[in-house]
Amino acid sequence: MNEGRYLAIPPGAIIPGFLPKFRIYVLSPQGQYILWALEGREVRPEQLDRLAEGGLKEVYIDIEEQFIYDQYLEDNLGDILDSKWSSNDQKATIFSRVSTNVVKTAFETCFRLGTMSTEALRQTQRMIENALKFITQSGSLQALAKMIGHNYQTYEHATKVLWFTVAFLRDNPGVVEEILPGYQNLSQRQQAEALKQCGVAALLHDIGKAFVSKEILNKSDSLSTVEWEIMKRHPLSGLAMLVDTDLPVFVKKAILHHHEDFDGGGYPLCLEGSSITTLARVLRIVDTFDAMTSRRPYKGPVAASKTAQIMIGLQKEQNGNDDPPQDARDEGMRRCFDEELLQKFIIFLGNVKVEA
Ligand SMILES: [Fe+2]
Repeated sequence: MNEGRYLAIPPGAIIPGFLPKFRIYVLSPQGQYILWALEGREVRPEQLDRLAEGGLKEVYIDIEEQFIYDQYLEDNLGDILDSKWSSNDQKATIFSRVSTNVVKTAFETCFRLGTMSTEALRQTQRMIENALKFITQSGSLQALAKMIGHNYQTYEHATKVLWFTVAFLRDNPGVVEEILPGYQNLSQRQQAEALKQCGVAALLHDIGKAFVSKEILNKSDSLSTVEWEIMKRHPLSGLAMLVDTDLPVFVKKAILHHHEDFDGGGYPLCLEGSSITTLARVLRIVDTFDAMTSRRPYKGPVAASKTAQIMIGLQKEQNGNDDPPQDARDEGMRRCFDEELLQKFIIFLGNVKVEA
C-alpha cells in the first residue's frame, strides 16, 4: 500500500458511537495498514480501551477522506476535547486543527461575500464554546503553550491569539469587568458567554486581512509605502465585514482598535490611552507577543522571555536603538501597550509556564 495516502490521527479523536463516512486503519508491526473500523459502524468504548492497552498512539484515515474527518472533528469537538482516550497534547493539536479550519472558512467566506455570513459566524462561536471548556481544564494550557514558536501563519496565529486571550481573561476577571462592567456578578453561564464573545474578537481580529494579498502578507522584505498603507486598512476592513452581524459593539470595536497604540501612534484612528477599548488593548499585547515568538516570513522567532522583556522596554530590539523598529510590521514596543495590562499578561505567562 502507498503510505502517503494515510493521515495519522490520535485514537482520542474517535468518540464512541457511529462513525461518519470515513474508515479507520491501524498500522501492523509489519508496516501494513489494516482496516480497524468501517464507515457508519459503531465504535464501542471497549474497542478504544483495547487500542489504549495496546499502547497505540496513532490510528490512520485515508487522506482522501480528510474533509469528512475535519467536518466530524468540528461537529464533535466538545466530546473529543473531553475524551479520556487522548492526551492534552493530542487534544491541543485537534483543537488547533479545527480552529485553523474554522478561521480559514471565515476568511474565505469574507473574501467571497465581502461580509461574514451568519453560518460562518455561528460555526466560529460553536468552536469557541467547545474550546473554552478545554481551556478551563487543568493541564490544557501547558499543552497549548507548546504551539508557541511555530511558524506565523494567519490562521494558526488567530488560534493562538484566541487561546492566549481567553485563558488570560479567565485568569483576570477584573480585566473582563473593565471590558464588560457587571461581568463579575453574572451567572457562570453568562460569564462563559461573555468570554466566548471576547474569543470571537480574538479569533477574528485579523479577518480584514482577507483582502490583503498573499504577496504582501508573506513578503520577506520590508513593505513599500503603498503596501504598508494597504496592510493598515485591515482593521477597518474587518469592521466592515462584521458590521451587519449581531456581534456586540465591544467585539466590533476591539477588531477596529487592535492596532491602536497606547501613546496614540497606532492606526487607523490614532486613538490613545483609555479611548482604546480594553479588549483591543489586550489584543494589542497578545497579538504582538504571538507574532514575535513565531517564525515570520521576514524574521525568526524571539524567545518568550526575551519578547516579554522587549515589550516591557527592559531590552532593546535587535536593531539596537530606542527608535520605533525599522520594520513597521513589528509596530513599536513599550509605547504601544497599556503597561498595567502588560504586567498582568506577563504574570499570566509565568503562571502558564511558557517556555523561555
Ligand atoms: Fe492585525
